[in-house]
Parts: sequence; C-alpha cells; structure tokens
Amino acid sequence: MDDKNRSETREQIEGQLNSAEREFITSCVLAAPVKPSVALEVGTWLGGGSTLHILRALDKNGVGHLYGIEADASIYERMVANIRKVAPDAAKRFTPIFGFSDEAIPKWLATQDKEFKLDFVFLDGGNNPMEQIVEFRLLDKFIPAGGQLFGHDARKRKGKFLVPYLRLLDNWETQVHDFSDYGMVYSRKLREFPTAASLASAKGKLNRMRLEPKEIAATILPSWFCGAVLKMLPRQFSKSLSDEK
Ligand SMILES: C[S@@+](CC[C@H](N)C(=O)[O-])C[C@H]1O[C@@H](n2cnc3c(N)ncnc32)[C@H](O)[C@@H]1O
Repeated sequence: MDDKNRSETREQIEGQLNSAEREFITSCVLAAPVKPSVALEVGTWLGGGSTLHILRALDKNGVGHLYGIEADASIYERMVANIRKVAPDAAKRFTPIFGFSDEAIPKWLATQDKEFKLDFVFLDGGNNPMEQIVEFRLLDKFIPAGGQLFGHDARKRKGKFLVPYLRLLDNWETQVHDFSDYGMVYSRKLREFPTAASLASAKGKLNRMRLEPKEIAATILPSWFCGAVLKMLPRQFSKSLSDEK
C-alpha cells in the first residue's frame, strides 16, 4: 500500500486523492450534461477517497449507482463498514464488489441486461500497467458517447500504457491533469468507434511499449523474485522503481 495523498475525511475514514482531485471527480459527476446513471470504480482502498466523493456527488444529483471493486479482503471489509458509517444515506447507491478486476468485471457485466450502459469509470487498482488496459478493453463497448473515464497515477507506472493508448484513440478526447505528481487522466468518449487507423496506431504503440526490456522482465520474472529484489534495495529507491514508469 503506498501512502500517496493519504488523508482523513472529517468523518475519520481514510482515503487517497488530494482535495483538487476529489473536487474534480465530484464536479464531473455534478456537471455532466447527462447525469451519470451507472458508475464503476476499480480500487476503492478504504473508501474515503474516490468512492465517497463519487457516491456523494451521485447522491447530490439524486440519480446514479456506484459499483466499487476491491481486491484486498481486509481492506474490502473495512471499506464497506466505512461507507456505511459515514454515508449511510448515499450507501443505498453503492454496491461493493470483492475481487480482482480482470475476473470481477466480466462477472459483473454478465449480470447486466442488453441495454446496459456505463457512464462513469474510475480506474485506480494495481500498479501493473496492463491492468488498466485490460479493464478499459472490458468496459469500453458499454460506455456511450459522452461517457467519462478517469485513471489515477497517469504519470506513474499504473498509467504507463493506458494514457498513450487512449491518446491515440480518436473516439476519445483525452487530457492528463496534474493536480498532483501522480497525474489523473480524464477522457470523454466522442463516438462509439475509433477509426481503423487510430485503433491500429493505439495497438501498435501498446505493443511497442510492452516490448521494452523492463516490461519484458516484469512479465517473465516471477513476482516473488521482483518483490525480493525490491526488498533488498533502499526503501526510497525500491518505491520509485515500482511506482515509476
Ligand atoms: C491506490 S489504491 C486506491 C485508492 C482509492 N481510489 C482512493 O481514492 O482512496 C489501490 C487499491 O486497489 C486495490 N487493487 C489493486 N489491484 C486491484 C485489482 N486488480 N482489482 C481490484 N482492486 C485492486 C488495492 O487493494 C488498493 O486498495
């Protein structure tokens, strides 16, 4: 668990994202031309950051439901209790989902009906940069024009693949906001499909990034080995290696 922007809400539940990031996601829910009806978040942590702020904004709109995926069992339990404690009214708009996003998202999608649309997505799970790509690819076809997508750690390892990929898709309008050193990517969908040329260049860019020596090593070396090497290094250095691109 990193300690980025960790803070206490006034109700004493912990959450990440700084105040500018929290205000930004709140305003994007409140000011959306069509109020978001279904929102999905990957990586809730303890609930006091993105989860609570998206949820409160949906509640202020008087419409919308947030699904929040969290992979760590003990964090999940605390997050569920936290949301019930500090937002008992808005909690009716929240469904927590336990699991890793690559399994939890397909299971969740399988329970939706044919008309299902996803208006708002916030990706802030694990640090492996392929995770945000996998999550995006699972969700993209359900996001209508006007839908909004956010990725935290856009300037860090987590967002290393998604940000350039999105920038090359011409059916999404993409910006990175530097509210903090972590960066937040914000994309709005312009139309259903990208042109074939834009999709081909996004895929080509992703393939080239995945072929960088560091990425090949991260893919083929067992995670216990990478973890052991990182543990042997001074803390500051190992943190920057695992966070940085
Ligand atoms: C940086 S924290 C999220 C911070 C949170 N969005 C906030 O604003 O406070 C990342 C969280 O994602 C969870 N996580 C990591 N990989 C995941 C995955 N593949 N699927 C779901 N959750 C994941 C971690 O357990 C952790 O709680």
